[in-house]
Amino acid sequence: MTPMRCAILMTLALLAGCKGKDSPAPGVQGDPERGKMVLTQYACHACHVIPGIAGSEVYVGRPLDGLARRKYIAGQLPATQANLVRWIRDPQSVDPETAMPAMGVTERDALDISAYLLSQ
Ligand code: HEC
Repeated sequence: MTPMRCAILMTLALLAGCKGKDSPAPGVQGDPERGKMVLTQYACHACHVIPGIAGSEVYVGRPLDGLARRKYIAGQLPATQANLVRWIRDPQSVDPETAMPAMGVTERDALDISAYLLSQ
């Protein structure tokens, strides 16, 4: 391979890498675009600062950014997508004392919301 060709390929690889912010990591299920829409319907941003969602600066819960890089959800659940869905649907099943309410989020909505959060 010529050095020029190599440089072009490396640039393409870098560009592909940068795209990552809006597309979920490999293996993440669900529809992040739909998730972004439904999480505003559940008013998650009434308690959380969420990347890409305009709203007041609220810190009842922690900002929901960088979840894909976290090790734990709410300080105790390993940060897998399945656990994120579980937390969103029923936080009390993880921590009976938590201030986050269960809001009757459906399985599909929770999956799509988690896909959005994992892509931020
Ligand atoms: C009434 C306020 C409130 C609402 C509404 C709310 N949350 Fe929370 N949320 C919290 C609090 C408080 C915590 C911290 C819980 C803990 O650590 O025990 C939390 C924690 C979380 C966490 C774990 C964050 C971390 O840093 O580990 C996620 C993920 C989350 N919420 C997602 C959501 C989603 C998605 C919605 C909408 C479906 C939502 N929350 C709605 C209050 C809220």
